Amino acid sequence: MNRKKLNIGLFGFGCVGYGLYQVLEKTPTLNATIKTICVKDQNKPRPIPQEHFTFDKNAILCDKDINVIVELIDNADEAFDIVSAALRAGKAVVTANKKMIAEHLAELIDLQYEYKVPLLYEASCCASIPILRNLEEYYDNELLESVEGIVNGSTNYILTKMSAEGQSYQEALSQAQAKGYAESNPLLDTGGFDAKYKLLILSAHAFGGVLKPQDIFNAGIDRISHLEQQYAKEKGLKIKLIAQAFRKGDGTISAFVAPRFIRPSDKLYQVDDVYNGVTLKTVFSEDQFFVGKGAGAYPTASAVISDLSALTYDYKYEYKKINQNKHVEYNNDVLLKIFASCESDYKADVAAYFEETSEQFSNGKHSYTIGTITLSNYIKLYGEKPVSLIVVDTIREEELEAININELVAEI
Ligand SMILES: NC(=O)c1ccc[n+]([C@@H]2O[C@H](COP(=O)([O-])OP(=O)(O)OC[C@H]3O[C@@H](n4cnc5c(N)ncnc54)[C@H](OP(=O)(O)O)[C@@H]3O)[C@@H](O)[C@H]2O)c1
Repeated sequence: MNRKKLNIGLFGFGCVGYGLYQVLEKTPTLNATIKTICVKDQNKPRPIPQEHFTFDKNAILCDKDINVIVELIDNADEAFDIVSAALRAGKAVVTANKKMIAEHLAELIDLQYEYKVPLLYEASCCASIPILRNLEEYYDNELLESVEGIVNGSTNYILTKMSAEGQSYQEALSQAQAKGYAESNPLLDTGGFDAKYKLLILSAHAFGGVLKPQDIFNAGIDRISHLEQQYAKEKGLKIKLIAQAFRKGDGTISAFVAPRFIRPSDKLYQVDDVYNGVTLKTVFSEDQFFVGKGAGAYPTASAVISDLSALTYDYKYEYKKINQNKHVEYNNDVLLKIFASCESDYKADVAAYFEETSEQFSNGKHSYTIGTITLSNYIKLYGEKPVSLIVVDTIREEELEAININELVAEI
């Protein structure tokens, strides 16, 4: 089979864009060259000669020689304008922009069908981990029970520093920013938004159904204090920000992002620093685990290269599950076992949100409550009170027997 020659117009030459340029130079077997690079800041010094660059997006979008656009800019709205114009111009597109995809997935799918050109975005979810094409191609819809994991590298780095080195949340965040791991607006990471965008994309490819970002609840790590870290340490647990989507007994799907206590027996326990890890639960093959770097120039560029390579063979997402499951229902009908803590004695107020409580503690300065709560009430409580809510377990019928919450309880 002859591989197609790719003539690339690249948008963005930051961390990932420059990484892609370097990785492409080391991948001579891929029949691809970057013809023109569009960037924004006319005064920024560049590591390669100026003649490669343009500041006019149409210099790329209207260039008939360019058959592939690689979009690696840091602004989701501008990225959507570029990507949709490129698809309309009949150019294939590769992007790493999860926010843009999550906000416009339905329109982007329609554009691909209408203009008969592919849009690939493996790098948008967990950077180097080849998860999307696996979900799309390998797992048949009926066999998948859940997708869950650590999908945001910077929050995992912050939580690792807090847990392993006793750093405060602020110290760990500053270090993540200094190392370039956090987005320019850190709330995108720490508030769980980035993880939510990825979950939306993962869930569409895993189960079908195209949600809007506002349909998926996201709690972040910004309320986690020394108190919960100390509790986790005493119990031999780690706190991780977990994105999860799973199918329930009635066939409906639930998807949300929240911090969770992770036990040593869970494979995600070993996933530290900027690494990402995703566990797929399937009916017949049980758990399967993917791990890899979830951020950084080369890991992200490697996923872009893989998409480019796929384009040379005319690969496109077929969106089989979205097409088959037009009426898949997502809802928040889930029961959680959680640990709710806050700096003052709110325990009476907090308990009102719970289905039942198994443990309450207060020393006048801090209080915590452990018990079961519906996801809907978790969302309400999170919005209404300054509490930190850490999931102990997502309760699925078959697991009810196995959980002994009292084993997790001790005085702080
Ligand atoms: N960094 C990672 O580890 C990582 C991992 C996975 C996915 N991603 C995604 O990859 C994308 C790029 O991230 P990054 O970290 O490489 O960003 P970055 O380092 O901030 O670089 C952004 C680049 O975009 C350019 N740019 C911004 N607006 C533009 C516009 N309207 N037209 C043309 N160029 C424009 C900037 O131009 P100037 O150089 O002129 O400022 C800069 O070169 C984002 O969507 C991000 O979410 C990043």
